[in-house]
Amino acid sequence: MYTLGEFIIDNKKYFSHSIESLLRLFSAIKLAAKAVHKEVNKAGLTKNIGSSGKTNIQGEQQQKLDFFAHNIFINSLKNRDIVCGIASEESKDFIIINKKENIKDKYIVLIDPLDGSSNIDVNVPIGTIFSVYKSKYNNDFLTIDDFLQNGSKQILAGYIIYGSSTILVYTTGNGVHGFTLDPSIGTFYLSHPDLMFPDENKIYSINDGNYIKFSNGIKKYIKYCQKEKRNGGPYTARYIGSLVGDFHRNMIRGGIYIYPQTSLHPKGKLRLLYECNPIAFITEQAGGKASNGYKRILEIEPIDLHQRTPFICGPMNMVSKLENFIKNYDE
Ligand code: AHG
Ligand code: MN
Ligand code: MN
Repeated sequence: MYTLGEFIIDNKKYFSHSIESLLRLFSAIKLAAKAVHKEVNKAGLTKNIGSSGKTNIQGEQQQKLDFFAHNIFINSLKNRDIVCGIASEESKDFIIINKKENIKDKYIVLIDPLDGSSNIDVNVPIGTIFSVYKSKYNNDFLTIDDFLQNGSKQILAGYIIYGSSTILVYTTGNGVHGFTLDPSIGTFYLSHPDLMFPDENKIYSINDGNYIKFSNGIKKYIKYCQKEKRNGGPYTARYIGSLVGDFHRNMIRGGIYIYPQTSLHPKGKLRLLYECNPIAFITEQAGGKASNGYKRILEIEPIDLHQRTPFICGPMNMVSKLENFIKNYDE
């Protein structure tokens, strides 16, 4: 049984930053993940389900557990001397930690504390997504520029899926590795080393209820997926409405995830910094491709903390095929 901590130490030669920093970051992430896991598992008993009655900066209903997960992760990360700034999907502004401290060798964490929160009350997998950058250190103090770095600058990205088991998946640019929590002793053990999209890919994941709001390219691609006898038969549709859950399944089983622009969300719905960049980093490390339909996600220069983008990720051949549909029918 190989623990996450041992795995990190044994693979330190592949990590170009301080291994001590990585261990300290993970110690915060693991602790918060275990607290959220515990709360998610008993949410129905502790009345921690349902809406908090508030909306977040994106105008979305905040669930009680969104708020809980946000606080747990912020507090856990704050208490390490290694993180100098945090931005969360659930909070309007970025948070500066230890203003007086030197930020030179410290890290910026961007987080979607609870992803798929509309699924909390109905026992469907939800998750946490995190993304880590080195502070830019242009100044002695943090500015918005430290947070608006393009995704290719990530030094660590990952997610925790609270599903039939709780699994932490991460990459530092040396492959994608998954660790399952043994809740009886609170330890994450290596269970999914070197995750890669499989060669055979037959799943497509999109919210089909938005069909009439899609562009022609997306509509034609959906019809292509549904056509018989292509690539050995029609694709299978799977969509649960938690990016983490849909992505995790697609990486293991082989499939494409699509959240395009719609007439309701003309810039897309998913958040570039908290959702798309970390999942794009993992996608590429698992041998796949992540795009906004025209451009590599990791090369988009962010201009706003809560910026949205159309998002397509999955096996290289499936994403390239969809990009061709977009090129041929939408341009
Ligand atoms: P969040 O719960 O963090 O706001 O994210 C929800 C996101 C994502 O997880 C999911 O894939 C997508 O919204 C689902 O949106 P639709 O309900 O519009 O399909
Ligand atoms: Mn989300
Ligand atoms: Mn969220």
